[in-house]
Amino acid sequence: MCGIIACKTHSPSAAYLLTGLRRLEYRGYDSVGIAVRTAGGDVVRMRTIHRIDALERAVDDWDGAAFGGVGIGHTRWATHGQATEVNAHPHVDCTGRISVVHNGVIENAEALRRDLASSGHRFATGVDSEVICHLVEQRLALTEDLLAAVKGAVVALEGPWAIAVLEESTGRLVVAASRSPLVVAHTNVGEFAASDITALADWVDEFQVLEDGDVVELTGVNGWHDPDKTVVTPALARFIWRAGDSGRMGHADFMSKEIEEQSECVARVLDEVGDRISTGALWSDLGLQCFDRVRVVGCGTSLNAGHVIGNVVRLLGGLPVTSTVASEAGGSVFEPGTLMLAISQSGETADVLNAIVDDAAGGSPLLALVNNPHSTLARRADAVMTCSAGPEIGVAATKTFTCQIVAGVAVMISALVAAGRLSRTAADTLVDDLRRLPDRLAGAGSVAECIVPALADELVDASGFVFIARGVGLPYAAEGALKLKELSYRWAEHYPAGELKHGPLALITRGTPVVVVDDGSPKLATNVSEVRARGGLIVSVGPLGSSIPVVDGPAAPWGPIESVIPLQILARSLAIALGHDVDKPRNLAKSVTVE
Ligand code: AGP
Repeated sequence: MCGIIACKTHSPSAAYLLTGLRRLEYRGYDSVGIAVRTAGGDVVRMRTIHRIDALERAVDDWDGAAFGGVGIGHTRWATHGQATEVNAHPHVDCTGRISVVHNGVIENAEALRRDLASSGHRFATGVDSEVICHLVEQRLALTEDLLAAVKGAVVALEGPWAIAVLEESTGRLVVAASRSPLVVAHTNVGEFAASDITALADWVDEFQVLEDGDVVELTGVNGWHDPDKTVVTPALARFIWRAGDSGRMGHADFMSKEIEEQSECVARVLDEVGDRISTGALWSDLGLQCFDRVRVVGCGTSLNAGHVIGNVVRLLGGLPVTSTVASEAGGSVFEPGTLMLAISQSGETADVLNAIVDDAAGGSPLLALVNNPHSTLARRADAVMTCSAGPEIGVAATKTFTCQIVAGVAVMISALVAAGRLSRTAADTLVDDLRRLPDRLAGAGSVAECIVPALADELVDASGFVFIARGVGLPYAAEGALKLKELSYRWAEHYPAGELKHGPLALITRGTPVVVVDDGSPKLATNVSEVRARGGLIVSVGPLGSSIPVVDGPAAPWGPIESVIPLQILARSLAIALGHDVDKPRNLAKSVTVE
């Protein structure tokens, strides 16, 4: 979704802004823009509904006064108002003196707009963000100080927001945030702010995360200075991802790179935590109490990973587990002894952040399983487990799914040992199984690459797909169906195989592709026969003898994790055959920061 970058650099800012905006592209956007101060002291605004290349051409073609080192940029994913150039950020006040980029939603924008319009402000758009420009303009009529004006203006805003405000006359740049992520960094090339640390990957080693309500000027010292009150300066965080991690590294697209990386990423997770699982230390180091039940919340792929982790807790620990779509978590009944496990690769998903507010009220300790340890979810949790997948750029989650499962399973096995619900010997055996996963995932990738692209060519005209599985295989069927619809734009539904005969079997006709995640259950074979009898085209992913024989080894409580690799490759291959952009599927965003 929307992305912000702002900078005050020693050389022209446009190059930094464009690089940062490219790094934000993965979040999904439908327009992009910058406002840059020239050597002459004017601010030039350039916006487009086309890709960043178009913006770069406009910058290259600029023949006015030379660009200076101060600027702001934005990728917009439309929520209020269509994806048009006029609605693209940066927005300006009545005078053009103030330029603003904004992430989030101003929930009281209409009321503010009415007030501002009645006091003479003229609006150029219906976009909620524009009210911020006029609020700052209104405050600047009372004070000449931009920092004070922004502090005064943001008091009126309701909802989640992160902003960067550029003042033309002084070149001052002020950033602020509340319930929407924003980081600042002081580097040897200048000062930066961004909504996502990956935007700054090329220049930043250390950064600070704004707390809710922080208003900070990019001055060179980035002081959290307030003459009116004592302000706690956030600690410096180290950027854990290298710039190269967010490149395609010779792959045709990020998705293929990220699918291939899974074995290596899972090996890294196990290197980090493997020795502390069966001792119980991985859990006890988190400082949380033992629990009697688990409540999992997440969305999309992260929730599918949550189902796998929940199965492990249920099967190994005999504990009750509920897994809830985060956007539907409101109104849940709280039970004592519950651990809340919130799973999100971005750690910025608005539905998840809302779900944990309700649970905090219920008093459950919160463990966040995230890929970004500096995310809002991580900062709000009582303890954090990182899944260590590295930056995932493709909108479709792949390596974060497998890493979430391995990290989540590891911490839950450790918790069961710490609570005396699982013996250390049993845990040692499970850890040995986990340590075999990198090879099993790599093997599944090799087999799938040989078989799946040709299969996708055969299936390219299918209008829809059914995915089935039983028991511990079910979350993988769910993930396969999600990947396929996300990328190919064909309908794809997953069902517990036993449920087919209760309705979905009516969907099956001659040639309907039915993808079976085969965990070896004999009952599944019966359900497959029922599909065959109706002419369904079975594509099985499972042990030797399956259409895609990738599952090698005994059934584990976390199910046939390697089966997800061919399912990811199937979705990607179909999307490519259909001419779709696999890294940026239509209508979707990587970090879903609206409800
Ligand atoms: C997965 O391919 C999707 N892009 C989507 O379902 C995603 O998993 C979901 O939006 C949750 O995101 P999160 O992990 O960042 O919270």
